[in-house]
Amino acid sequence: MTSNDRYRPGYHFTPPAGWMNDPNGLIQWHGRYHMFYQHNPHEARWGFIHWGHAVSNDLIRWTDLPIALAPEPGSPRGDGCWSGVAVDDHGIPTLVYTEVRNGVQLPYIATGSDDLVTWRKHPRNPVIPGPPEGLEVSGFRDHCVWREGDEWRQIIGSGIVGQGGACFLYRGRSLLEWEYLGLLCVGSVGENDEMWECPDFFASGGRHVLVLSPLPLNQAVYLVGRYQANRFTPEVHGTVDGSADFYAPQSFVDQQGRRIMVGWLREARSETAQLNAGWSGAMSLPRLITLRADGRLRMTPAPEVETLRSAHITHAPHDLAPDTVAALDELHGDMIEIATTIDPGTARRVGITLLASPNREEETRVIYERLPGRLLIDRTRSGSGSSDSPSVALSLDPGEMLDLRIFVDRSIVEVFANGHACLTARVYPTRSDSDGVALFAENGIAHLISFDAWLLSAVMKRS
Ligand code: FRU
Repeated sequence: MTSNDRYRPGYHFTPPAGWMNDPNGLIQWHGRYHMFYQHNPHEARWGFIHWGHAVSNDLIRWTDLPIALAPEPGSPRGDGCWSGVAVDDHGIPTLVYTEVRNGVQLPYIATGSDDLVTWRKHPRNPVIPGPPEGLEVSGFRDHCVWREGDEWRQIIGSGIVGQGGACFLYRGRSLLEWEYLGLLCVGSVGENDEMWECPDFFASGGRHVLVLSPLPLNQAVYLVGRYQANRFTPEVHGTVDGSADFYAPQSFVDQQGRRIMVGWLREARSETAQLNAGWSGAMSLPRLITLRADGRLRMTPAPEVETLRSAHITHAPHDLAPDTVAALDELHGDMIEIATTIDPGTARRVGITLLASPNREEETRVIYERLPGRLLIDRTRSGSGSSDSPSVALSLDPGEMLDLRIFVDRSIVEVFANGHACLTARVYPTRSDSDGVALFAENGIAHLISFDAWLLSAVMKRS
């Protein structure tokens, strides 16, 4: 069932079968990349959450390994092994995660074999008995753990009624003994935040970055600021990805010193369609993260994605005439990469049509809109899934070109614009001939400066 689903991505990671949400425990161990993930192996619907596990030499070609963590036998649907991280505890691979038992969320650890395949929940769990006393909290889950001097630090996601989302900061002499230090940060970065899921906190470019997945916003955001005296003071607020289809990202530093982020690309089709397909959820491409001088995150696809490229199609520079759509006849496909630079000229909107049927009854459009300065993915005619159009702020400075890297992977369109604006959408074309590409400009003339496209290989081989 899962292998012949036309929406199953060819080069974005998906679970072998069943449900997948957040990436967890990203780590490079003895040279190989490991990725764990929130997983229901029984059906393509959230519940009975396990940790799935996959390994890769290049962040792109993944091999599934046995399930790493499982809920206690007989647990209800809502209990299980929720999100967390992997750390190297003096040579012992250790997972720090949230275990939910009888609906109660508590910090657990599990230690692994040296190949990271077998895991043992520690007998001294939970390692923290509960949230700080005297607060009305709306959750106590998801972990970020790092070294500070010869101690550990950890933050746990939460929300405090009346105050907003919150991150509790702890200090640990070991991963078993934790002392509460106070609130790293509290407030609202989304809309009336109730809870901050999956906090990810790291130093970059002389400052600190706090990536959050706030509820009810349900979209990943970041704060950049200063970390001093156990408090984080945000100065800049940004969007990790403009779409709610990208959620709960986690990052890690690999052995080359690169900070790499992966996010969960949830489905945008009905629960019935997901159950019938037998699988749900994909991972974003690995994104390299650095901090720009202006305090915004630079986010670019890891160069390893270029190893997927096969046939190369280019286009010479030319004008994009007002209010015409120029089909690129020699470029068809549902697994392609496009790298293009466009001078928006006088056009009010300029963009690329993807996954288009011959007369564009069905199409997905990536559009740059000069005013109010944003990038959007128009999926009003994309097919059978969600028809709303996610967007992200993108203003070009005078003379600045629109610089797009677009990855199409069957039901995924993932866009990187000008190195700092990311936008992802899940789409479900219904026609077998929806594989066309076209360029267009509206209300003015634009200029194509460069255009390269590649057909990409399927590496997620599923039996
Ligand atoms: C985010 C999240 C986390 C939680 C996990 C449960 O998508 O809700 O807060 O740990 O998923 O699967």
